[in-house]
Amino acid sequence: MTVLVAYGSKRGGTQGLAEQIGAELTALGDDVRVEPAAAVKGVGEVEAVVVAGAVYAGRWHKDARRFVRRYEKELSRVPVWLVASGPLDASADDGALPPVEHVRAAMERVHARGQVTFGGRLEPDAQGFPASAMAKTKAGDWRNAEQVRQWAATVHGDLSGQGALL
Ligand SMILES: Cc1cc2nc3c(=O)[nH]c(=O)nc-3n(C[C@H](O)[C@H](O)[C@H](O)COP(=O)(O)O)c2cc1C
Repeated sequence: MTVLVAYGSKRGGTQGLAEQIGAELTALGDDVRVEPAAAVKGVGEVEAVVVAGAVYAGRWHKDARRFVRRYEKELSRVPVWLVASGPLDASADDGALPPVEHVRAAMERVHARGQVTFGGRLEPDAQGFPASAMAKTKAGDWRNAEQVRQWAATVHGDLSGQGALL
C-alpha cells in the first residue's frame, strides 16, 4: 500500500511520531512518504493517509487542519487515520483519550477510519512563551514508542485486510 503520513509539528515531537509511524509501516511492507502537511503537493496516487498534528491550547496544529480541508475530497475516498499529540503526562497511555474538537470534526469531514491521541514531548529548553514557562514544570517525553508501534501495526493490518500482528 502507498501511504502518506502528513504532519503538523511546531517543536519536532509530532514530526518524530510521524517518522516512527512511517518507519513501522515501511517495515511492514508499505510504501510510505512522510511529509510536513504544509509541503504536500498532492495526494493523487496515495492509497491511505495518516494525518498527525500537535495539540496546542486544545487546538490541532493548523497545518493538519488545513491539509484536511485542502484535500477533503481525495481523503474521503481513501482510508484515513488522524493522530493528535499530546498530553505531557501518562494519560495517553491509560487508554483511548477523546479527540480534540478539530480532530472530531476532521473525522466527520473525511470519514476517517480512526483517531488516536499519543503522549507529547516538551523539551526543557523550549523557546518562546508560554512554552518556556511550561517547560519548567512539564518538560518530558511522553511519546510511547511501543504504543505507536502497536497502533501502526493495527493500521497496516486494517489496510491489508487482516488482523494486526502485534
Ligand atoms: C504552550 C503549550 C500548550 C499546549 N497545549 C496542549 C493542549 O492543550 N493539549 C495537549 O494535549 N497538549 C498540549 N501541549 C503539549 C504539546 O502538544 C506537546 O508538547 C507536543 O508534543 C508538541 O508537539 P510538537 O513538538 O510537534 O510541536 C502544549 C504545549 C505547549 C508548549
